[in-house]
Amino acid sequence: MKKTTPPTTSKHLIRWVEKMAELCQPERIHWVDGSQQEYDRLCQELVQSGTFIQLNPKLWPGCFYARSAPNDVARVEDRTFICSLSRDNAGPTNNWEDPFVMRRRLKQLFRGSMQGRTMYVLPFSMGPIGSPMSQIGVQLTDSPYVVVNMRIMARIGKPVFAEIDKDIQRVVPCMHSVGAPLAPGQQDVPWPCNDTKYIVHFPETREIWSYGSGYGGNALLGKKCFALRIASNIARDEGWMAEHMLIVGVESPVGEKTYIAAAFPSACGKTNLAMLIPPKSFKGWKVWTVGDDIAWIKPDEKGHLRAINPEAGFFGVAPGTSARTNPNAMATLARNTIFTNVALTPEGGVWWEGMTDEPPAECTDWRGERWTPEIGKATGRAAAHPNGRFTAPASQCPCIDPDWENPAGVPISAIVFGGRRASTLPLVYQAFNWSSGVYLGATMGSETTAAATGAVGKVRRDPMAMLPFCGYHMGDYFRHWIKMQRNLTSTPRIFHVNWFRKDADGHFLWPGFSENMRVLRWIVDRVRGRALSLESPIGWTPRYEDMHWEGLDFDRQRFEALQQVDRAQWKQEVIGHEELFLDLHDHLPPEMIYERELLICRL
Ligand code: OXD
Ligand code: MN
Repeated sequence: MKKTTPPTTSKHLIRWVEKMAELCQPERIHWVDGSQQEYDRLCQELVQSGTFIQLNPKLWPGCFYARSAPNDVARVEDRTFICSLSRDNAGPTNNWEDPFVMRRRLKQLFRGSMQGRTMYVLPFSMGPIGSPMSQIGVQLTDSPYVVVNMRIMARIGKPVFAEIDKDIQRVVPCMHSVGAPLAPGQQDVPWPCNDTKYIVHFPETREIWSYGSGYGGNALLGKKCFALRIASNIARDEGWMAEHMLIVGVESPVGEKTYIAAAFPSACGKTNLAMLIPPKSFKGWKVWTVGDDIAWIKPDEKGHLRAINPEAGFFGVAPGTSARTNPNAMATLARNTIFTNVALTPEGGVWWEGMTDEPPAECTDWRGERWTPEIGKATGRAAAHPNGRFTAPASQCPCIDPDWENPAGVPISAIVFGGRRASTLPLVYQAFNWSSGVYLGATMGSETTAAATGAVGKVRRDPMAMLPFCGYHMGDYFRHWIKMQRNLTSTPRIFHVNWFRKDADGHFLWPGFSENMRVLRWIVDRVRGRALSLESPIGWTPRYEDMHWEGLDFDRQRFEALQQVDRAQWKQEVIGHEELFLDLHDHLPPEMIYERELLICRL
């Protein structure tokens, strides 16, 4: 095995790398320094191996294009495991396996799994390096595609080794193999992976083992596996919160800034909301992006919640992203971006459904086959996979918040929950207090999307948008939320939004996108004690006159349809809440039961 000198003095780390190399038998070990030169070299190697196509530098400078294997296109929730010592600790919403059994199985799978490949030692910091809110991991991976994506999504390399060498922080070990060893002389494929997939978390020992996939959340282990599933365990033990939330700063014309964290299930427009541009009539208002997917939220010494975005890039869903829906995202991904599973145009550019009104006359689809609008129509095949993604540096976002890397985070004044719901849920309402807000988040539901494999369009309960990401018992997670209030001198106000309510003819009632600013403004005004509202059975709702309508022709009647709280529909909704609660009953905090009873009484 070819080895280089480790750029770390941590004996513990060196010993672990040696032990794992013995198990996986890679041909060589590469310690990742995170430099631009290293990134450029890896990208060139990926071009040579056929994983990457370099895009036309005149159109897409510094950009690369990849197609995954057709059986490796999304997170695999049915192959994701929380292997806590007791099944009870993982709870009914997670897959569980006895950790001893799972370790044995993983050892077998990883034995020799990196033969013929390089094992990269990839140190990464989730959160700005050196921030007291950051956490460190080391991912061992045989995928150079993962290394270059992780360089965009996290802080990696030399400065992280330096942090590890200080030996003051626990390091989370993350094992990753695509599970495709190469025999001597065997030709590699552009996207190596394995039909057998395991995404495994050991919460007590804070370890991650991922096998068989090279895609997104399955393979970029800093993201869902660490920053949500493992971090939710650390957060519970240490009294903070690891949440599936975007963070934005809303600035008023007089420069008053209000930070909001918002949780939506996967592929429900978090990136669009995080980069919103207010309508023209909102002169002087601005929305700043801190993060688009994950928030780590901690009480400061004064008892106020502050949040950081642990990531350094955006791993956004490409289809639907356009100069109309999200100009800031389009500007962000215009250079130095990696595209996966979108379509390739003959000019060496990328395209996806929704990017332009007119599709290109011809392109190569995400499967590598010729695609024209006619072929698309005849076969029903999209040119880009619905979960096709861009990996783009956050620093390139035109509206990135000046404080996005502040090691102390930003102060959070409001928490917003939302889902994709065709009926029942109004455009916006505010919970009466923290505990009813926790109930509101715990019972949120959404129609499923393409971000995970499985049926699309079914309403599923997705508490706090954390159903696939909470690394322990969901009932205990609700209890943790309830308990957080005890350490706070002021709690953020809690809201629910739904951009997706439809009328009887199936048309969306709300235009969405930049018009969502009107809802953000009401939220800011509520937080600042400036806006009135109506008390409804589910919470505080804005009246027509509490919203700002300049520049939008939206009549009172339509707004009332959008905001309507239909008691019959809500009685059905509460029955839906019960479904999940039945599964969780033995760990449910009593507040959830009381809140449900109160809601029923009010209805
Ligand atoms: C994501 C997801 O990739 O939630 O952010 O699936
Ligand atoms: Mn997400």
